[in-house]
Amino acid sequence: MNVSSNLNSLKSVLGGRNIYLIGMMGSGKSLTGPSLAKRLEYSFVDLDVVLEKATGKLIQVIFEEDGETNFRQLEKQVLTATGQRHSLVVATGGGVVTLSANWGVLHQGIVIWLDPGRDRLLARLRKDTIKRPLLETKDPEKVFDQIFATRAQLYAEADLHISVQDESAEQVAQNIIDQLPSILSL
Ligand code: S3P
Repeated sequence: MNVSSNLNSLKSVLGGRNIYLIGMMGSGKSLTGPSLAKRLEYSFVDLDVVLEKATGKLIQVIFEEDGETNFRQLEKQVLTATGQRHSLVVATGGGVVTLSANWGVLHQGIVIWLDPGRDRLLARLRKDTIKRPLLETKDPEKVFDQIFATRAQLYAEADLHISVQDESAEQVAQNIIDQLPSILSL
């Protein structure tokens, strides 16, 4: 079978089910998502962006003014609304996995964990210009390690685990396309 017929059978088996990208801050969900969506002829949605548009506030401001618990409730609402739609690649916020109710939505689609590993994540976050409110502390590395330790087993609930090195977003998207058949009995 040639490449385009492989892609067509992948799309047909997916049947419009949403694809949720999960993983720690800095794992490349928002960068990889558009490239993956383009390949699958899906639309791309970034949950953090939808949440900021819906509230008219930056994530950072929501954390400051309303606190993390309220942020998680908003995130759940935005995820639930997004789950009503189909044919989407969704970049989730790193903490979406922490509410068990969110898994009800995530598992209606295909869940993919992007995992660059601790050291690569920290290196990326050091360079990143986007502020991560949870890491605005005296010892961000220590806090990062604590968060990662509690979340690793949740990320491992994903349908597909993609180890990421220093590939481009396009290459990561292609790796996902190449590995999806293994979990879809193709
Ligand atoms: C968070 C990750 C962020 C954003 C918020 C909380 C987290 O999204 O939702 O700052 O708890 O890990 P990214 O994973 O896109 O950075």
